[in-house]
Amino acid sequence: MPNIVVVGTQWGDEGKGKYVDLLSDRVHMVVRYGGGHNAGHTVVLGQKKLVLHLIPSGILHRGVQCVIGSGCVVDPEAFLEERAMLQGLGIEVGNNLFLSDRAHLILPYHRRLEAVSEKKLGDRRIGTTCRGIGPAYEDKVARRGIRVGDLRHREALQEKLNYLVAEKNAWIASQGDQPDVDAKQILSMLTGFAETALSHVTDTSRLIHEAIQKGQSVLFEGAQATLLDIDHGTYPYVTSSSATAAGAATGSGVSPKVIDFILGITKAYITRVGAGPLPTEMGGAMGEEIRRRGDEYGASTGRPRRCGWFDSVVVRYANRVNGLDALAITKLDVLDELEEIKICTGYRYRGELVGEFPAELSVLEECVPEYRALPGWQKSTAGITRLADLPTKARHYLESLEALCGVPVEAVSTGPDRDSTLLDMGNGQPALERWFGKSANH
Ligand code: IMP
Repeated sequence: MPNIVVVGTQWGDEGKGKYVDLLSDRVHMVVRYGGGHNAGHTVVLGQKKLVLHLIPSGILHRGVQCVIGSGCVVDPEAFLEERAMLQGLGIEVGNNLFLSDRAHLILPYHRRLEAVSEKKLGDRRIGTTCRGIGPAYEDKVARRGIRVGDLRHREALQEKLNYLVAEKNAWIASQGDQPDVDAKQILSMLTGFAETALSHVTDTSRLIHEAIQKGQSVLFEGAQATLLDIDHGTYPYVTSSSATAAGAATGSGVSPKVIDFILGITKAYITRVGAGPLPTEMGGAMGEEIRRRGDEYGASTGRPRRCGWFDSVVVRYANRVNGLDALAITKLDVLDELEEIKICTGYRYRGELVGEFPAELSVLEECVPEYRALPGWQKSTAGITRLADLPTKARHYLESLEALCGVPVEAVSTGPDRDSTLLDMGNGQPALERWFGKSANH
């Protein structure tokens, strides 16, 4: 049975949640492999809109095992809140949810530290979600993090916390802020968390490995996206984890050899929330119009997203670093009323044509996008599920994206709910059959 990675190909918010939800029926296990509750995966169930930040959206499907992998950072309060929210909706959250003993914890001082350092950066701030994600990963890499498995060893945990809290307070004081982080309070919060969370804690790498050995199908759910990846994104305006497809292996503790298929999720235009370059940013009335039509507000923070034209330099780059097998285009219907739609085909840097995404921010900031303008279809595509029903100009738009990005478009989303999806692009095999094979249902 195939193991699939779902990965964002732009700056996040591409609509991964919808595809993970759509595919979860066909897999046995869904694994989050990076990030924390900075993510906002929106799933629309009938009239209800649900946003999941940490727990994989596979949890909405009976019989699917859900894993928060070792590459994630876990905020105890956010975990308990989300778990309680799901249970309140009558969704089972018991022995179908697993938390890696190797995942790192986000502690209250991480949020404090982040607030202080973002403030200090002034105009150069990253525009983070301020949820302590970056400082928790900093501690992980500096080898002073606290991991979920540490909750099993209270005395050692207390000793470590006392030392760390003293260190953090000293830093906060050095920045002229009140050093009021309290180790006792944190320990008590963690004790409460451990009472509930430890029943979910296990060696998830082993759990996933055993599922694959049994021939079960695993979906690796990417969070954030390629251009926010710590190594391959627009550094330093990135998140702190490995958001590309390769992160699925390290963030889950499985061999890269188990991955069979990599699905790139791509919005029909582009958005970014937070600071940093966005070469095809629209700005002005058009930017506002797309934001309004696409409801482009951060699912985690509510911040307005910056909107831009489709950038094929970005998605070609995402194809290279992820090795995409197919693209799923989302939010096509948001472009329905436009008279003309632009696609960025390349950048011009100091007069020279640049086909590849540059590494240095100073170069990217000077890049001027080159556009191809296509006529809009000016007809509603909302809810269309058959290729034959798509306006010809919309099909041309999709064909141009496919040709410019070098990846086949195998699914198209025409609305937020599960059913508003085109899954047969007329290339001989419907998407789900191609991705999972004929006997895909479990
Ligand atoms: P952090 O992940 O909170 O450290 O934020 C770093 C950058 O990643 C900021 O620009 C955030 O807006 C962005 N970011 C983090 N998570 C998401 C997401 O799920 N969608 C879109 N942007 C995100």
